[in-house]
Amino acid sequence: MQVDLREPWWIQDVRIPTRLVLAPMAGVSVQAFRRQGRRYGAGLVCSEMVSCAGLEHRNERTLGYLRVARDEHPLAIQIFGSEPAVMGEAARMVAAAGADIVDINFGCPVRKVTKTGAGATLLDDSGRACAIVEAVAKAADVPVSVKMRRGLENGSRTCLEIGARLVDAGAATLTLHPRSARQMYTGEAEHSLTAELVELVDVPVIASGDITSGARAQAVLATTGAAAVMVGRGAQGNPWALREIVDGDSGEPSREEVAAELIVFIRETVRELGERRASGFLKKFYGWYLGRGRFPRPFKQELVQLESTEEVVTRLLVAAPRAVELVERLESELPDPADEILLDSMPISIYGGG
Ligand SMILES: Cc1cc2nc3c(=O)[nH]c(=O)nc-3n(C[C@H](O)[C@H](O)[C@H](O)COP(=O)(O)O)c2cc1C
Repeated sequence: MQVDLREPWWIQDVRIPTRLVLAPMAGVSVQAFRRQGRRYGAGLVCSEMVSCAGLEHRNERTLGYLRVARDEHPLAIQIFGSEPAVMGEAARMVAAAGADIVDINFGCPVRKVTKTGAGATLLDDSGRACAIVEAVAKAADVPVSVKMRRGLENGSRTCLEIGARLVDAGAATLTLHPRSARQMYTGEAEHSLTAELVELVDVPVIASGDITSGARAQAVLATTGAAAVMVGRGAQGNPWALREIVDGDSGEPSREEVAAELIVFIRETVRELGERRASGFLKKFYGWYLGRGRFPRPFKQELVQLESTEEVVTRLLVAAPRAVELVERLESELPDPADEILLDSMPISIYGGG
């Protein structure tokens, strides 16, 4: 039986309009990515992980992650750290910035994060992990979710041992990426564990890992009983995959559509990060958008060499002139930047693009 991904569901009092969640991805999930994800059918979007220590010290770049636009809701902002009190204070800031959900990272396998006692290492310190969830739930007036891996070592089942305790501590939703931290992104996500977790807890579970098509999403929802699927790498430079997963609409985008989405993405990212940061950040996206046989390979190489993002836009418009009208239409539908909610204490210099 087909599962209807357009069916709404709830995380406590937050209504999630579809059963597709856009994954948090460091170095990817900027506001432009999240807003585009919403347009293509994601019911919930998530920021990349934000350091609670960076928030505590009012680090300018960290505060920049707390920009929230009108068309992103419902939005989860993800925080990471190892000190319950600091995580609680970060959660309060995140909720005040306009997040609908505070998400806690118990999954990051990267050494820079785990050596500070944060991310996936907390799966092996359940007392501290629960203390963090409790502190965050107490401090934030919005639902709290937890995203985790299966455990630290291959074959680990720690996620099942800790899941119910995290719920008792205050987690309103659990997202499981059933790979070990050691695996990083190798092997396969073992969603039979997701099914076991669904049986063990009485909150919605989100299934993350290797979901790149409507058929895969259907299979994972049907066999796990998860409330929703989360899509990460499959959506990089490919919002059309989200549409295919939600609606089964498998039409390949035209060159004009690809160029137009990329141009809007470039301009929005420059506005968010400023030209200097954005031009480096965007390079990986050129390959993601233009690959899949959409444009000849040397074209991507050419874009990566260009000095400014404005030159990239000009070159894209030469390659796909009729993208102009699509860009105009997409931009006219974006909300006014003046509508963005920002913390009062935010330094003005974070507005990268002016
Ligand atoms: C580049 C990259 C950055 C990521 N950053 C985060 C992050 O900040 N927080 C997090 O919880 N997961 C992060 N993840 C993990 C994803 O959210 C997701 O769980 C994982 O990629 C599996 O899903 P996928 O197969 O759909 O990509 C990241 C993954 C990638 C590829």
